[in-house]
Parts: sequence; structure tokens; C-alpha cells
Amino acid sequence: MDINSYLKVKADYIEQKLNALIPEKNIPFNSLYQAARYSLLGNGKRLRPILTIATTESFGKPCEIALATACALEMIHTYSLIHDDLPCMDNDDFRRGKPSLHKTFGDGHAVLTGDYLLTYAFEIVACDMQLTANHKVSLVSLIAKLAGCQGMIAGQVMDIQAEGKEIDLDALKEIHRYKTGALINASILAGGIIADASVDELQRLNDFGHDIGLAYQIIDDVIDVTAPESKHGKKLASDAINQKTTYVTLLGIDEARKSANALYERSLCHLAKLDQDTSTLKDLAKLLVHREI
Ligand code: IPE
Ligand code: IPE
Ligand code: MG
Ligand code: MG
Ligand code: MG
Repeated sequence: MDINSYLKVKADYIEQKLNALIPEKNIPFNSLYQAARYSLLGNGKRLRPILTIATTESFGKPCEIALATACALEMIHTYSLIHDDLPCMDNDDFRRGKPSLHKTFGDGHAVLTGDYLLTYAFEIVACDMQLTANHKVSLVSLIAKLAGCQGMIAGQVMDIQAEGKEIDLDALKEIHRYKTGALINASILAGGIIADASVDELQRLNDFGHDIGLAYQIIDDVIDVTAPESKHGKKLASDAINQKTTYVTLLGIDEARKSANALYERSLCHLAKLDQDTSTLKDLAKLLVHREI
């Protein structure tokens, strides 16, 4: 299967499961489920859950055993976008091709839907009948760390602290690795844990994720100034409006793309040290640095 068909098949598979995980209910707080479905379903690229599934599969294990965890990671990612768009953060009115959650459901629902998706994600992992107790403990610990203060939340805090300030490339790299790279790494490592990868193998996956996670945010910085709203599903130049330092403000578009490409090339060297068939992961890495949205 070529990589584009692979993406389509897996994204549909993930979409179906997400849909089933959050049904609407005839209860007084059904608006929470409506809001969660509004943000979660449709239009996301599903990169993180696809990385989880592709990693598990590269170790010869079936994709079904990674599906619930993959969806949990997509929920955490979606929660991060909902909060990231709030007026007190990046104040973005559009996301995934439609008004941001807070524009449709209000700030209160945006905060609480984010909280719900985050907590529900851990419930999903903890209750997954396909995983052993050891898998669950490892996954919960990994995801909590990398979505939290050893990763995404730390990055988001550094990101808002840096607004309106001049920061250098090393400081920006650190913010990017934390705010975006960490959850991408968590998604890859989760796939490895589910597939019973060895400590050495997890280290290789970690090195791979470290490079493509940063590359992903570099391209996100580029897309913020290049992709038309109709394609991107977000307004152009959110970073400039928020006075963020980005790879584009520090290096310009061409050099930013070159940096992402160099990270991509290096990420392949880490994959090459694994004995498994990593061809899908290689294709995914290529796609994510060459994406236009
Ligand atoms: C956007 O992520 C925010 C970042 C952390 C870079 P994506 O570009 O993966 O967004 P979706 O999930 O496809 O909407
Ligand atoms: C988002 O970074 C990182 C998150 C953890 C959500 P950005 O703020 O650059 O993401 P976009 O551009 O709004 O999608
Ligand atoms: Mg942001
Ligand atoms: Mg943002
Ligand atoms: Mg951005």
C-alpha cells in the first residue's frame, strides 16, 4: 500500500473509533459530548495516532492493539488545540476549517471539553482490555510526563512567556521540542511500548521522534505564513499577531525548511539502526516535513 492510501485507511479507522468513543447521550450535560465531537471529529490529519499505529505495526504487531491508545493521544492533542486557541492563549478563531470551539460553545465549554478529553484519554488507556497491566502503567506514565511538565505543558508555558520577547534559536528549539515534539515522541514511543520494544529499540524510536517532532513544529511555523486559510483551516499569521518568535522570524522560510529537512534526514539514520521494517515510518517522516497543511 502506498503511503497516501495507508494514511487514508488508518485515518478512517481512527475516525470510526473516535466516533464510537464519544457518543451523544440523553443527559443534562450532553453539550460536553457535542463540543468534544465538534473539535475531535473530521479534519484532523491524525498524525499522532497514525504514528502510534505505524510504530506498533513496524514491530510486526497488529494495529488493533494500538487503536485505543492512538485515539487517546489524538484526544490529548485535540485538547491542546482547544486550549491553545483560547483568547488567553493564541486567541485563534478558526481551527480545522471551522470556528474554534470557544467561538461556538463559549470559553467555559472550551476549558471543560479540553479537561474532559485529557482525563478521558487516561481512562481509555487504563480500561483497554487489549493491554496488559504492565503496558498500561508504562503508557500512563509516558503520556502523563510528555503531555505534562516534561513536555507539552512546559512548552506551552515557555511559549507564552516568550511572546513579545527576543529569543535565540536554542531557546526556540527548546520550546518547540517541548510544546510539540514531546507529544509526537509520546505517540511513537507508545507504539513501541505496546509492541514490547526493548529498551534499546525504544531509545532509537525516541531519537527518531526527537528529530521529527521538532521538524513538525518548524513546518508548522512555515505554514503559519504560507498556507492559505482555505487550505490550512486556520487564519494566516497567528504567530506574527501574537508576537511569537518562530523559525521563520529567525531564519526565513527557506532556511526553516532546510532545518526541517536536515532533521528529517537525521531521523532516518536513527530508524536505520532498528532491525524492524520501518518503511512506513520513513514515509510518514517524509510526508510530515513536506506537508503543506
Ligand atoms: C497543530 O497540529 C499544532 C501543533 C502542535 C503543530 P497538527 O498540524 O497536527 O493539527 P491537526 O491535528 O492536523 O489539526
Ligand atoms: C501548538 O503550537 C502547540 C500545542 C501544544 C497546541 P501552535 O500554537 O503553533 O499551533 P497552531 O499553529 O495554533 O496549530
Ligand atoms: Mg500556541
Ligand atoms: Mg496556536
Ligand atoms: Mg503554529
